[in-house]
Amino acid sequence: MQGTVYVNGAWVPAEAARVSVFDRGFLFADGIYEVAAVLDGRLVDNDAHLDRLERSLAAIELKLPISRGELAAAQKEIVARNGLREGLVYMQVTRGPADRDFAFPADAHPTLVLFAQPKQMTDAPAARTGVSAISTPDLRWARRDIKSVALLPQVLAKQQARRAGCAEAFMVEDGMITEGASSNVFILTRDGEIATRQLSRDILAGCTRAAVLALAREQGLRIAERPFSVAEAQRAAECWITSATTFVMPVVALDDAPIGDGRPGPMAQRLRALYFEAARAAQ
Ligand code: PDD
Repeated sequence: MQGTVYVNGAWVPAEAARVSVFDRGFLFADGIYEVAAVLDGRLVDNDAHLDRLERSLAAIELKLPISRGELAAAQKEIVARNGLREGLVYMQVTRGPADRDFAFPADAHPTLVLFAQPKQMTDAPAARTGVSAISTPDLRWARRDIKSVALLPQVLAKQQARRAGCAEAFMVEDGMITEGASSNVFILTRDGEIATRQLSRDILAGCTRAAVLALAREQGLRIAERPFSVAEAQRAAECWITSATTFVMPVVALDDAPIGDGRPGPMAQRLRALYFEAARAAQ
């Protein structure tokens, strides 16, 4: 917790940043969020993140308290004020403070908070070795396409992963992997098909997922948007996850079983490099 934070139009030091205990984000997790990466001091794929923020807001009937253009300007300003070169910008909108009552209050003013977090991402040591994952039941609600701040199932899944010495938890429903606790999951089958679960209300429409799929299509690679099981992922040639905070991250073991030769594979490395190239070229 450091640097300068944006709270409802004010720029405040992190230690002084406050929202009300009556905020509905705190009481009901009545809010949504976004996380956009920053590379070389510039936001990556930010239009896609703002589009999804607007979709999440509309889905819970919440209005952004400022315009989209003003929000984009605040994002740029938070990068500048914090001297952020590499890391992420976090944004959260909640229904604001009100007397505790489940249904929407008539007079609430949404709370908008932004903060910046430095993180070494391009040269992440984990990308050189790959990371391990566990599988765990998907305990989440039926609208995972909304980037809701109600993240307790993901918090518990990630903690379970950490205890097992792993970086990610693949969530499983009806025998199939939905997605990672904070990422989308891809495999490369042994006959050369890239598979990732199709979009629906069962998963978050990852911005990095979409960018990586577009790059793979440009390369003429074979893609199938379909579900797959833990067993199929374990016998795949490669596996990787995508998110704004990891980009393309090779997964080299799942539930203690090595995937491929247990090292980052050429396809994951290629897509990771292509993603950086495209992200930098777009700036
Ligand atoms: N999470 N699926 C889930 C459940 C996620 O929480 C995320 C991202 C993704 C990947 O989406 P994107 O590529 O747009 O980052 C998929 C962010 C990084 C987080 O909660 O920190």
